[in-house]
Amino acid sequence: MDRGKFLVIEGLDGAGTTTQAGLLVEALRRRGLSAQATCEPSKGPVGALIRQALSGRLSLEGGKALSPQTLALLFAADRDDHLEAEVKPALEQGHWVVSDRYLLSSLAYQPLSLPVEWIAALNAHALVPDCTVFLRIEPKLAASRLSLRPRVELYEALETQRKVAENYERAISIRRQAGEHILSMDASLPKEPLSRHIEEALLGYLGIK
Ligand code: TYD
Repeated sequence: MDRGKFLVIEGLDGAGTTTQAGLLVEALRRRGLSAQATCEPSKGPVGALIRQALSGRLSLEGGKALSPQTLALLFAADRDDHLEAEVKPALEQGHWVVSDRYLLSSLAYQPLSLPVEWIAALNAHALVPDCTVFLRIEPKLAASRLSLRPRVELYEALETQRKVAENYERAISIRRQAGEHILSMDASLPKEPLSRHIEEALLGYLGIK
């Protein structure tokens, strides 16, 4: 049996990664492929810890947030656990796996406060995806979509999104030079046309009619 393909959708918060990962799985299934959606932070035990840390339910005594280093290590540990428990077994059984976020997220978000080289070293053994789709969006548009959610300060969100967007571009250029396949798509499009573009570009790249 042929091994499945490992596909990843990446982008700023507000770019629509979750929506597009779901639509891609549906599109692959319509073509008769066995495809499954997954995400990082994963649904496993380490992913659960990360979600608790991000929402403030898991903190140091006195309510202080976990350090950026602890979080970076948790993201790397979650990735390894996600690969071993879910992704690799599915690929080996011939299923296609579409992950909403993966390693590029660590290279874009954790360097907000840590050296990118350390983050890259922590993740050096992570499986390389067959193809990653980066949903490119103006930080301002992403931030305005996020501002519709409760408890986000627009200015803070915009400043953060700008830095994350720069980190994504830098990481993508380095990884492309290393031979990784990363497609960049215009995520300001409405979701249906964007989904069709992603499907065409991906299947074209993978040589699937
Ligand atoms: P996500 O689940 O996409 O957010 P939500 O479902 O709440 O919209 O991811 C949660 C946050 O975690 C997101 O802001 C990006 C961040 N993140 C990292 O900082 N590093 C990582 O390695 C990953 C996978 C996510």
